[in-house]
Amino acid sequence: MVLSGKRILLIISGGIAAYKSLDLIRRLRERGASVRPLMTTGAQEFVTPLAVGALAADHVFTDLFSRQDEQDVGHIRLARDCDLVLIAPATADLLAKMANGLADDLASTVLLATDRPVLAAPAMNPHMWAHPATKRNVETLRGDRIRFVGPMAGEMAESREAGVGRMAEPLEIVAAAEALLSDGPKPLAGRRAIVTSGPTHEPIDPVRYIANRSSGRQGHAIAAALATLGADVTLVSGPVSIPDPFGVKVVHVERADQMRDAVLAALPADVAVMVAAVADWRVASAADQKIKKHPGESIPTLALTENPDILKTVGHHTMRPKLVIGFAAETQDVENNARAKLDRKGADIIVANDVSPATGIMGGVRNRVKIVAHSGIEQWPDLAKEEVATRLAAMIAERLKL
Ligand code: C5P
Repeated sequence: MVLSGKRILLIISGGIAAYKSLDLIRRLRERGASVRPLMTTGAQEFVTPLAVGALAADHVFTDLFSRQDEQDVGHIRLARDCDLVLIAPATADLLAKMANGLADDLASTVLLATDRPVLAAPAMNPHMWAHPATKRNVETLRGDRIRFVGPMAGEMAESREAGVGRMAEPLEIVAAAEALLSDGPKPLAGRRAIVTSGPTHEPIDPVRYIANRSSGRQGHAIAAALATLGADVTLVSGPVSIPDPFGVKVVHVERADQMRDAVLAALPADVAVMVAAVADWRVASAADQKIKKHPGESIPTLALTENPDILKTVGHHTMRPKLVIGFAAETQDVENNARAKLDRKGADIIVANDVSPATGIMGGVRNRVKIVAHSGIEQWPDLAKEEVATRLAAMIAERLKL
């Protein structure tokens, strides 16, 4: 219970995602945190201070020049009397103010005055998120040690708008807050880790591709768990719709060859965990233009060629990490296939799972794995993917100690 007893100053700024902050308050309080809410003028157009105050069971701060509030708490105390400042949603406007040190309302003033960790959950239209000005501001803020969770890809509240800009879900924000505030042991401090995650997309032509059902959940959770133990993590992710894990450097790629290049560029490392469902084959020569369908013409055939095996490359590399871990997604004879993979790929451990459709593992939230090493096989129970990640990270920390 990392959040138990923690005091969170929740800044709600003015975006439609503010409705999710109501649920966020509940989730934080369920975990034992106290939530002191601060709302911008814009936020009050979307949710009422009455609802926010009722859920937080605290006074809602809104006004920089409130004589009463300044007498009772004051904006400097507001900025300091907490363990974490959480901004959800964080609008483009508020991020811009923060990046430039403006302090013209209570939220921006508190953010300039605070010496506490700050976690922002941006939410805005995809064009606003992609705008060079917002990108610049986010870069500046990262340099100022502001941490971010999300935004995610998906549907926007506005009709017919989709892209990156949705606020992370309340539970993802809670997980990021927990990771930021966790003061547990850091056995992987000073260690470097590389993790691959998600599927790859292998183009057929500019609009079509070959892919698979990997969601990236397991790989992303492992990257996050290693970071929680203090590792310096590079996550190389194929196209996924889940947010970048907190506290991790993420390189986004599409194809297997790009994934390999990004992994090799991240060497040296102490541990590599290759979780991505890399396509075994790609189209030998992807078309430059969209392949057209012409009536009466024969159906095109796709000639495939083999993709680089990233795990095998890393497992036999001159800069091979001390610990190389692969995954084996199988639908039959899981153990034997995993054992054979240990040697073939040059891995120390293969995490084997049965991805038969009936198991619901591929794309699902739970996993049942066997840890296959030269020394033997260990069956783990059915666990949430986050729990598999936590255990695996602990196991990695143990092994790297030796
Ligand atoms: O041979 P198979 O695809 O079953 O091996 C699975 C393991 O190898 C996973 O760890 C996966 O990330 C890795 N792999 C890879 N590059 C490939 C194929 C698989 O890194 N081209």
